[in-house]
Amino acid sequence: MRKIIAGNWKMNGKLENLLEIKKISNEFARSKIEIIICPPFTLLSAASELAKNVYIGAQNLHPENEGAFTGEISANMLVDLGITHSIIGHSERRNKHNETNEIVARKVKISLEKKLQTIICIGETELQRKENSTLEILEQQLLDSLANNTNFEKLIVAYEPIWAIGTGLIPEVSEISKIHDFIRVRLVELYGSNASNIPLLYGGSVNGSNAPEIFNVNNVNGALVGGASLSFEKFAPIIRAIENTSP
Ligand code: 13P
Repeated sequence: MRKIIAGNWKMNGKLENLLEIKKISNEFARSKIEIIICPPFTLLSAASELAKNVYIGAQNLHPENEGAFTGEISANMLVDLGITHSIIGHSERRNKHNETNEIVARKVKISLEKKLQTIICIGETELQRKENSTLEILEQQLLDSLANNTNFEKLIVAYEPIWAIGTGLIPEVSEISKIHDFIRVRLVELYGSNASNIPLLYGGSVNGSNAPEIFNVNNVNGALVGGASLSFEKFAPIIRAIENTSP
């Protein structure tokens, strides 16, 4: 199974921060880990020119290839730049930009069609967790967000509990384990045995201290990291932690 560490810079990063990508690139030049950094659109071009052994991904894309969509960026344009990965359906896009599962499904479809490695995000709110509906919510998000897609060769699923994002809180390791096992089982039941190769990432307040225990969980194949991906000093220990887990 691939091991993946993806950094989501969200709306952070200016030209001077490209240095962090360069440092990661230099430090992990021979790493076997699939390292992905998703800076804002403004840095994609410069980042993909300087990154070596680090993939550069986009945080979003439009479900159409081109046209009268002011301010939007298409999968075609990303591929043109040499971008290899995308993040689709992040909870911040779902909740702050009104992205429904239907929109997410259209984005996933075009992203996969354009052969981008596509990280689809799912996760429950604090309230849904308290109501014990996490598994139900995750299953529905998976079903709806992947609707009309049949080829999952380039799909990556990120489980990001919304209440854990940027809060410093993480679920108990046993909870992460239960949820990742559930996602794996449902993916295989829904989409067949090939789905056993879909990497499953955990996201939400991952840092250098909690990374080792998270990466020891069965069916956790990596992490989607927000805040701690912004600097070399915080991101590098997370990559080292997964390098140190058994194959
Ligand atoms: P934090 O690592 O800052 O909690 O963010 C997680 C996230 O949203 C990554 O996509």
